[in-house]
Amino acid sequence: MNVPYQDDPDYPKSLDNNDPMGHFRQRFFLKKDSIYMCGNSLGLATKDAEECVLEVMERWKDEGIKIWTVDDNKYYLYSRYLAKLMAPIVGADPDEIAIFGGTTINIHQGISTFYKPTKDKYKILVDDINFPTDRYAVDSQVMLQGYDPKDAVKVVKSKGKFMDEDDIVNAMTEDVALIFLPTVYYRSAQVLDMVKITKAAKERGILIGWDLCHGVGAIEINLKEIDADFAIWCTYKYLNGGPGSSAAIYVNRRHFKRLPGLAGWYGNKIETQFLLRQEFDHQQDANGWQIGTPNVLSMASLEGALKVINEAGVANMRKKSLHITGYLMYLIEKKLSNYGFTIGNLREDSKRGGHVCLEHDEGYRISIAMKKRGIVPDFRDPNVIRVTPTALYTSYEEVYRVVEILLDIVRTESYKEINKNRNYVV
Ligand SMILES: Cc1ncc(COP(=O)(O)O)c(C=O)c1O
Repeated sequence: MNVPYQDDPDYPKSLDNNDPMGHFRQRFFLKKDSIYMCGNSLGLATKDAEECVLEVMERWKDEGIKIWTVDDNKYYLYSRYLAKLMAPIVGADPDEIAIFGGTTINIHQGISTFYKPTKDKYKILVDDINFPTDRYAVDSQVMLQGYDPKDAVKVVKSKGKFMDEDDIVNAMTEDVALIFLPTVYYRSAQVLDMVKITKAAKERGILIGWDLCHGVGAIEINLKEIDADFAIWCTYKYLNGGPGSSAAIYVNRRHFKRLPGLAGWYGNKIETQFLLRQEFDHQQDANGWQIGTPNVLSMASLEGALKVINEAGVANMRKKSLHITGYLMYLIEKKLSNYGFTIGNLREDSKRGGHVCLEHDEGYRISIAMKKRGIVPDFRDPNVIRVTPTALYTSYEEVYRVVEILLDIVRTESYKEINKNRNYVV
């Protein structure tokens, strides 16, 4: 954060007027009187996504079953089509990427493919602050192989809300067969050094997979350089693919000959898939990890969204994201620090992802008060309001307004009128 910011109500206007990414706002469905700060959880809909979904609807209406083969088999081979759009976003070859299933399913796919325990090397290394679905998947995969997670899942303990990369490396003992970690932590926004950790794993003969959910579209990722064994990610956060849009898997090409842990007929070679033989004829690229029929409607919204991301370019998005989140942090410190707010994420650019962690003892009720005032953040226990100005659709003026509204909420203590009972989805 070496850019000086100004605490002046006209300043955000001048930033918006000079923002080379500003025009992308027009591609999104933005609501009047609402400031969306939740792109870390579910990205907003683009007009491009709507267009692609409507196109699929038209094709389905007109063609019925023939939808699979229109436009040179576009929808039958939709994973490949989307992988080409995804490749520049994560720095991998298109044939190392497949788009299918969902995040947690793809975690199961990755782990069941790469976790091949032996008597002496049977542990999976994880941390204790990752999003819990990753842990549930790891524990259940270990149990499927007949092990007790208490023994076979090796958990690196966090230090407070952060992970120490050296603790991860030091835990890479000879009994570890596989490592599975997140790139950016969902609560603290901490970014792990994937290159360093992957290199350490490789030097010790340990396979490694990454959960890129909170990283993809938020930070620059170069899977070629990282050279991990596999990775998975969702497409509905910073990529704006739509609620529950199909997820992705990356399989390093050195593993193309491996068999998928969870095989299905869409992982069969396309040349023999429709011969419908009983023997699985594995497609030897990432598409061989697909399981069943593509979720075309949810992939269509992703197609539109990825076009926008590619037009913008992840490097440009990261640059704006660092600048606009830096501005938010500047305003928080300037205006809110006397009211019990602190910034919970690390401050170095290389160590923070796309969201700002606004911490307050009354975080839950303040987050509800924000919603009542038209701001959409989210809340994570025990005290984190995640506030995400995104590169593509958040203006600097909105950031300024968010802080002004927060100031009003704490000055008037309007959050005290809110019931402490929690809703299921926060
Ligand atoms: C790191 C991480 N992994 C996985 C998921 C969710 O997986 P799924 O798309 O299967 O619900 C999330 C959800 O926010 C997440 O943050």
